[in-house]
Amino acid sequence: MQILPITPQSCEMDIIRRLLSDAGLPTDDLAEPQVLLWGAAHHGQLVGSVGLEHAGRAGLLRSLVVGPAWRGNGLAGRLCHFAFERARDAEMDALYLLTESAAGYFRALGFAEIDRGEAPPEIAATQQFSSLCPGDAAFMRKRL
Ligand SMILES: CC(C)(COP(=O)(O)OP(=O)(O)OC[C@H]1O[C@@H](n2cnc3c(N)ncnc32)[C@H](O)[C@@H]1OP(=O)(O)O)[C@@H](O)C(=O)NCCC(=O)NCCS
Repeated sequence: MQILPITPQSCEMDIIRRLLSDAGLPTDDLAEPQVLLWGAAHHGQLVGSVGLEHAGRAGLLRSLVVGPAWRGNGLAGRLCHFAFERARDAEMDALYLLTESAAGYFRALGFAEIDRGEAPPEIAATQQFSSLCPGDAAFMRKRL
């Protein structure tokens, strides 16, 4: 598997949008400049993605999806570790995320659920936090 940067105007972005929306994940804010997105390509076919939204000294891990036919092969794990490295490169001190269905998955990667009131202001100001993710989604943090 190769991990490739996805730019907002590319045709790859349309494929990633489809993967995300099929999984019920938000796509409205993908073209925002603070959002970096990478795709997972297998023999030239895009099969998954991960995103990292810069928010001050912290980051929002987001847009993690693997196409249904490709799940259970460790691809999401590889995408997450790739994003952790990019976050460390950017000297972020913590990663946050919101999830409705995969809290158990992220717990295994070192995230812990926290109260939304503990969000740093820059994370609280992201569209994912303030409007795109349902209020009952789990809010999680991993210190880097
Ligand atoms: C969650 C998701 C990204 C995992 O992708 P994947 O490539 O299959 O994950 P991996 O192969 O790295 O890991 C598989 C392991 O995670 C577990 N797992 C997968 N989805 C899970 C979930 N939603 N909750 C808890 N555990 C989960 C599997 O049981 C498996 O465990 P095992 O290794 O003990 O057998 C994928 O199921 C998906 O795209 N789901 C829809 C979108 C989504 O929920 N994204 C996350 C929220 S932003």
